[in-house]
Amino acid sequence: MSLITLTDPRSPISEAYRTLRTNLSFYSLDNPIRTLVVTSPAAGEGKSTTVANLAVTMAQSGRKTILVDCDLRRPSLHDYFGLKAEPGLTDMVVSGEDTPPLQETSVENLWLLASGAKPPNPADLLGSRKVDQVIAQLVEMADIILFDAPPVIAVTDAAVLGAKVDGALLVLSAGKTRRDHAERAKEMLEQAKVRIVGTALTNAPKDDSIGGYYG
Ligand SMILES: Nc1ncnc2c1ncn2[C@@H]1O[C@H](COP(=O)(O)OP(=O)(O)OP(=O)(O)O)[C@@H](O)[C@H]1O
Ligand SMILES: [Mg+2]
Repeated sequence: MSLITLTDPRSPISEAYRTLRTNLSFYSLDNPIRTLVVTSPAAGEGKSTTVANLAVTMAQSGRKTILVDCDLRRPSLHDYFGLKAEPGLTDMVVSGEDTPPLQETSVENLWLLASGAKPPNPADLLGSRKVDQVIAQLVEMADIILFDAPPVIAVTDAAVLGAKVDGALLVLSAGKTRRDHAERAKEMLEQAKVRIVGTALTNAPKDDSIGGYYG
């Protein structure tokens, strides 16, 4: 898996990730978002790709950034950076270990807290008080913490985690995400008192009419 924000930082796609970064930083000027979960209604809509590239652009702007893989069911963030899935978040929760086992990435200012060993009960684990403590610790260590999560509709993990952080970014895939699924996901997050700060559209058709003026 490769990250376009690293392999081709001048491409329009990388520029789109930077626009997303800018929009998020303007979302709430008095109370900036420090912790953000990225999720989507269903599987395969681009959550992990979005959160990984967003984290790279955040780090590239000089902000200390920690990426946390909270898709404990299908962890993938370590693969983007050639790192290991363990140790990680679940090991901290299970062992009571106090120091987050952060892995350095090849990107300056960017660290990964991987998922860790697969737990039998991901939603309960994410709902535990120890996870609140870990989040509080991470906030002390970095400027921004981004969390990958499973899809909203299938399992409660994203809603449980979303209620513990400043906000959620909902990823929707053009031509793939069903309208009723997007609506259902929004309702489920709102019911869980998750603050949806925006949406990101993936798989959008290329629009050549804008032109390459800013190449
Ligand atoms: N912005 C995008 N535009 C087009 N395709 C994309 C985009 N982001 C991701 N993809 C493609 O969509 C597929 C799924 O991406 P990804 O693994 O990031 O999704 P996911 O929502 O994390 O999936 P899962 O639910 O399995 O964790 C991959 O093949 C990826 O290359
Ligand atoms: Mg994923």
